[in-house]
Amino acid sequence: MANIEALPLLPQVAQYQALAAEKARLDGVSLRDLFAADQGRATKFSASGAGIFLDYSKNLVDERTMSLLFELARARRLPEARDAMFEGAKINLTEGRSVLHTALRLPKNKKLEVDGQDVVRDVHEVLERMRIFADKVRKGEHLGHTGKRIKNIVNIGIGGSDLGPLMAYEALKSYSTREFTVRFISNVDGTDFAENTRDLDIAETLFIVCSKTFTTLETLANARLARELVVSWFESEDAVGKHFVAVSTNRDAVVKFGIQPENMFGFWDWVGGRYSFESAIGLSLMLAIGPDHFDELLSGLHDMDEHFRTAPLEENLPVILALLGLYYNNFHGAASHAVLPYDQYLKRFPAYLQQLDMESNGKRVTRGGQAVNYETGPIIWGEPGTNGQHAFYQLIHQGTKLVPADFIGFARSHNPLSDGDTTMHDLLMANYFAQTEALAFGKTEEEVKAEGTRADLVPHRVFPGNRPTNSLLMERLTPHALGALVALYEHKVFVQGVLWDVNSFDQWGVELGKVLAGRIVPELSAKSVDLKHDGSTNLLIQRYRKLRGLSDES
Ligand code: F6P
Repeated sequence: MANIEALPLLPQVAQYQALAAEKARLDGVSLRDLFAADQGRATKFSASGAGIFLDYSKNLVDERTMSLLFELARARRLPEARDAMFEGAKINLTEGRSVLHTALRLPKNKKLEVDGQDVVRDVHEVLERMRIFADKVRKGEHLGHTGKRIKNIVNIGIGGSDLGPLMAYEALKSYSTREFTVRFISNVDGTDFAENTRDLDIAETLFIVCSKTFTTLETLANARLARELVVSWFESEDAVGKHFVAVSTNRDAVVKFGIQPENMFGFWDWVGGRYSFESAIGLSLMLAIGPDHFDELLSGLHDMDEHFRTAPLEENLPVILALLGLYYNNFHGAASHAVLPYDQYLKRFPAYLQQLDMESNGKRVTRGGQAVNYETGPIIWGEPGTNGQHAFYQLIHQGTKLVPADFIGFARSHNPLSDGDTTMHDLLMANYFAQTEALAFGKTEEEVKAEGTRADLVPHRVFPGNRPTNSLLMERLTPHALGALVALYEHKVFVQGVLWDVNSFDQWGVELGKVLAGRIVPELSAKSVDLKHDGSTNLLIQRYRKLRGLSDES
């Protein structure tokens, strides 16, 4: 911890104080006013990189606000922090690790040494092994124990070992071979395992056990169930070799579990779990979409890395999104941030971002361990449009809470269907455009009255507007586009972590619940117990035991 460059707490920073005044200056100024005052506003407040166009003009800012935000980024030494991450400095201070998910997508001809080891060579060695294995399975050269072709891929993992590959598999489904049934089992709830395996011919099934640590309770419990299923199906331990592979950084634990090293794909402690689907944790994805499309995904990630690394702050997409997010979070009291993809294939993207963002920046002390006296990471949530419009958009339009939102859309669909003369995609995207327009500019009392609305209904039909949004627009949801989008958010989260001065790369907050659950497990089935929890927890456990027909003696 000695090397931490001490940063003052945010409220002590001059630019932060100036931003508080800036917020007060703009109170009462509407987006209608801001657009009327500046004809070139949309052009001025838009930027692009790695195939993503960002229009951020529908935000409650003007040039002065933005320039103060960029000054704040410089005051927090963002360019230096960014370079340190790319170079492999051990910026994950509490775990003493480098943070190098960006190395997972460096081209083969690059070199990056960490502790004397060229990590790019290591990365490409594993990628090559993954490619060979994926090709074998896809071509029917890797067969099951009884010689059947593999047709089912079951990923067992949780958190980053589930959400990443699952999100990307769903996002790139139109690129995946439809010859495979691909399933993801994560929850320790037996229902997840039962429902995802009940209809599978195990002789045609490959289980991929993904766990960075290979100690995670949920994953190991599900992996044991899968192992028992395979052994009992074939009545032979020998079948395990053909029906299991593991992805982990913990070789010893994998071997102890009974998976041989030749059936294991490794990665490194400098890849955080929530950044790991770009490593071997993405094996199920590579099997589904094929190694070439996986390479395209990596090139999209790398292109956004390069944009983030080299573009001036004022044109830098992750930096712009991060600064705007901080402005609402810290000065407008916005507790949450919505991510609204107008693409059904991105249905798991908000869930994936929840881990990426909330596990990274849901922190209450600075990197140096001091309690913060300002807000840090927001609550991330969202659903695809237009479904969300018929559920929660009401609150965003007319509720009392400010919910800044990112709208994500594409010009071309993978499924260009028509409803009569209207293309479904135009219907979808008309809503994408209309929503940010309605949120920004609303509908005034005068406009509502001018429509001849009954007097008592007027207040109900007024839309206040001034609901800030970012619009992200891309050509099509390709592997490259998904890579660029993922890296955009990875770097946004990084930038915010730097500004808030938190360690975005540990997750101690998940530990306590794990330990307590471990203590409770035996109490739930023991013949008799002497519960020593608080009154509420004791009562609940007693109730549970009673419902399960166990005597209650405490
Ligand atoms: O929930 C905590 C966490 O450590 C996540 O950060 C991680 O993605 C997940 O558990 C799974 O961990 P592992 O890949 O080691 O099983």
